[in-house]
Amino acid sequence: MRIGILTAGGDAPGLNAAIRAVGRMALADGHTVVGVANGWSGLVTYRPRELRDSDFAGIIGLGGTILGTARYDLDRPAGGRDQVLAAIGEHLDALVAIGGDGTQRISHWLAERGAPVVGVPKTLDNDLLGTDYCIGFDTAISLVAESLDRLYTTAASHHRVMVVETMGRSTGWVAALGGLAGGADLVVIPEFPLTMEDVLSHLVRRRARGHAFSIVVVAEGVNLTSLGGQEAGELPVEGVRGTRLALRGVGHFVASRIEAHGGFEVRTTVLGHLQRGGSPTAYDRIWATRVGAAAYEAAVAGRWGTIPLVRQGRIELAPLSDVAEGQRHVPRELYDLCARFF
Ligand code: F6P
Repeated sequence: MRIGILTAGGDAPGLNAAIRAVGRMALADGHTVVGVANGWSGLVTYRPRELRDSDFAGIIGLGGTILGTARYDLDRPAGGRDQVLAAIGEHLDALVAIGGDGTQRISHWLAERGAPVVGVPKTLDNDLLGTDYCIGFDTAISLVAESLDRLYTTAASHHRVMVVETMGRSTGWVAALGGLAGGADLVVIPEFPLTMEDVLSHLVRRRARGHAFSIVVVAEGVNLTSLGGQEAGELPVEGVRGTRLALRGVGHFVASRIEAHGGFEVRTTVLGHLQRGGSPTAYDRIWATRVGAAAYEAAVAGRWGTIPLVRQGRIELAPLSDVAEGQRHVPRELYDLCARFF
């Protein structure tokens, strides 16, 4: 078989571990492995590159993706999907598409039209439906936790409020679980909106309880209106579903309102792409390898239109339709657990 691998959407630590798993297993079984460059765009202008065993050497701990990736909108201009469908038919016997919901929506569309496509779940936002694991999330929350550890000492020394903005798009997984791991004193996420009065009264209460400093984690996708601000209207849009949420400046907004209240000295840290860069954690390496290996097995078994998901510690092969529409949100009980420690 001629097995193509592509990574699409934002990069995430652990992608290379999944690429390596698919590639090495396929080569060992005598298949040809083709790397598709830069996500779906690499199938619009088809530039095949056969990968050899040496291409997978030393990449398990490497962040990013050796294939390159892109936020490429196949519907603008129209016709991109058909070009991809034709390229797969002409050049590949199987395609392993590693990506988040935008990528898997395309995979699903292609598979419905007979293309031999299998997905692999990736997004550091952790918001793919139906799976407990997405490549990159563990590394992202580890970075958030380490950052909070570091901010703790400087916040304590200066008796300041530190506002930390995390990634996560329209869900609060990175903020909530990164905040839980790093001992955040308040976490503000899109799922459970807080008003600015909630934030301020919490900080005042904490100070009254003897805490001279606080660390407040704010997810980039939090609704500004509920915090008493205004959405800035249209923001630059990129690729598949790419309003650049970081440009809304939620972290700086919350910090400015706390400072305006008086009585608190405030500093803001936007963690940004530090959450996406660098070496994957051991957990991400292991699970990316496991879902990559499962995707390879699904491909050689001809289980097109499926994606290996992690549910209750086990890998299950699910139809792509399970993940293609909607997002997985932080459940109430998890946020309530975080809040027990605010
Ligand atoms: O979806 C992953 C993610 O890192 C989001 O958390 C973030 O909003 C977005 O991608 C940033 O994308 P880009 O790197 O294209 O600015």
